[in-house]
Amino acid sequence: MEVHDALRNRRTVRAFLNRPVPRESLQEILEDALHTPSWANTQPWEVHVAAGEVLERIRRTYEERTTAKVPAQPDLPFPGAWPAPCRERTKELTLGRALTRNTTTDDPAFHHEFLMANRRFFGAPCVVYLCMARALSQWSVFDLGAMCQSITLAAQDRGVESAIAINTVCYPDVLRAELGIPDDLVIVIGIALGYVDPSDPEDSFRSARRTLAEAVSFKGF
Ligand SMILES: Cc1cc2nc3c(=O)[nH]c(=O)nc-3n(C[C@H](O)[C@H](O)[C@H](O)COP(=O)(O)O)c2cc1C
Repeated sequence: MEVHDALRNRRTVRAFLNRPVPRESLQEILEDALHTPSWANTQPWEVHVAAGEVLERIRRTYEERTTAKVPAQPDLPFPGAWPAPCRERTKELTLGRALTRNTTTDDPAFHHEFLMANRRFFGAPCVVYLCMARALSQWSVFDLGAMCQSITLAAQDRGVESAIAINTVCYPDVLRAELGIPDDLVIVIGIALGYVDPSDPEDSFRSARRTLAEAVSFKGF
């Protein structure tokens, strides 16, 4: 796959088929992604991958806690209020997703179903968790972000779709218990991986992007 196509075609898939991703494919994806650059080649990522019965246990606990309204407590806290332009873009995203389901953002059922879908990792057969040592700085989060994109693109190259989702790491104690992730690692983000369920109404949805003129300033040309 051309990089151009990969960048433009990657998208967040929010409904996966109940079909496992072979371990060999995951290994190839992660081997490619390990070529991601990092500050002074520190390679701060510690990667944990869950599938099968372990992931089902995590999923069940997440669903139970979400139903019981247990507050999310990710290791890296949620951002506070977004600046207005960012907030507008998140509103546009939510509205676009609601419209694919023939509803509006005023519909409480839409938000509830979205939360539950998030907390079941959209049915993905596999989640990759990116962690790093607690002692590291924000620059290592930057490196993990680059790693994240590498994983999604390497996955796409093998026909595996992805959803980067903070919701996958909202109960880090569950992940520590099930995956043996030590306390001195921060669990930064999870990436759900799998094969798209084409019957999902949101499968046709594509999020908007700022134009080049809006996002980029050129000088000296
Ligand atoms: C750090 C990060 C966290 C995210 N968390 C979630 C999440 O919890 N749930 C979700 O549905 N999407 C999540 N997303 C996906 C974004 O909403 C999505 O990338 C964005 O809307 C752009 O759409 P696209 O990925 O389809 O191009 C997250 C993305 C990033 C980069």
